[in-house]
Amino acid sequence: MALLTSLFDAPSRWTALDPLAAKAAAVADRVLPGGSVRGLLHGRPAGHPAHPAMAQVPIGTSVSALVLDVAATVLPGAGPLEVPARVLAAVSVASVAPTALAGWADYVDLHRDQQRTAIVHASGNAVAATLWAASLLSRRHGRALRTAGTVVAGAAGALGGHLAYRWAAGANHAEHLPHLAGDGEGFTDLGPLADLPQDRPQQRWIGDAPLCVLRRGDDVLALTDTCTHLGAPLHEGKVSGSGAATTITCPWHASEFRFRDGAVVGGPATAPQPTVRTQVRDGRVLARVDGPPQ
Ligand code: FES
Repeated sequence: MALLTSLFDAPSRWTALDPLAAKAAAVADRVLPGGSVRGLLHGRPAGHPAHPAMAQVPIGTSVSALVLDVAATVLPGAGPLEVPARVLAAVSVASVAPTALAGWADYVDLHRDQQRTAIVHASGNAVAATLWAASLLSRRHGRALRTAGTVVAGAAGALGGHLAYRWAAGANHAEHLPHLAGDGEGFTDLGPLADLPQDRPQQRWIGDAPLCVLRRGDDVLALTDTCTHLGAPLHEGKVSGSGAATTITCPWHASEFRFRDGAVVGGPATAPQPTVRTQVRDGRVLARVDGPPQ
């Protein structure tokens, strides 16, 4: 197992991929639409990364085709299974482009070591898609090409899973903060209101959980400080809007979160930011981490 893990970790160290990784990110940033379409590719409306969910289609259909191919080989009475297997391969091929687009949109904002792994993952999937497409054109070698494509896709998919779980690409980087802050147990004194500068977000702490705290007049707004996307310190970001629409934009990849409810208003993040309730009492700022918005 350790050997397999080192094998999957290896591409993250392949610095020779950096020129290609940088080029792929620059091209994606230029050609992919921005705004709400990019948000859709990230999975922002669903609150969940779109790419891994969409990948179920090519993976599911290709594995189903493999099952039919195996059945046709080992079960003499299985009947003609070539047509349904080819239909499944065709669905795999058709689903590759939208799935890849969603992955490409996420790829743009990954760290460079994650991008190296993502390049290898995407290359494997491109080879698999080519083999599936070739299987549709070849009557004679269709089954062998389908099977080869599915084997390659399996390895590429496993690397994608490693990227998500081991390298935390697409994971929520703030899920643990409410637990670090004591799971909503009472309010914590953050110090005098007078110590907070106006309109300049500051970092404060509840237990081991960092907060991004913003003074607006005599009011105080706050969110947890570790960006859900890839963990940047939000208090170094830019504040926009006013009142209930006040937001902070992450300094790393420009995800924008609303203070009121932690909602993702823009950028690559899909998970909302755990919210913080604040009070000002006797000139002192009190805060409590609420947990992720429901
Ligand atoms: S770390 Fe990427 S948007 Fe915040």
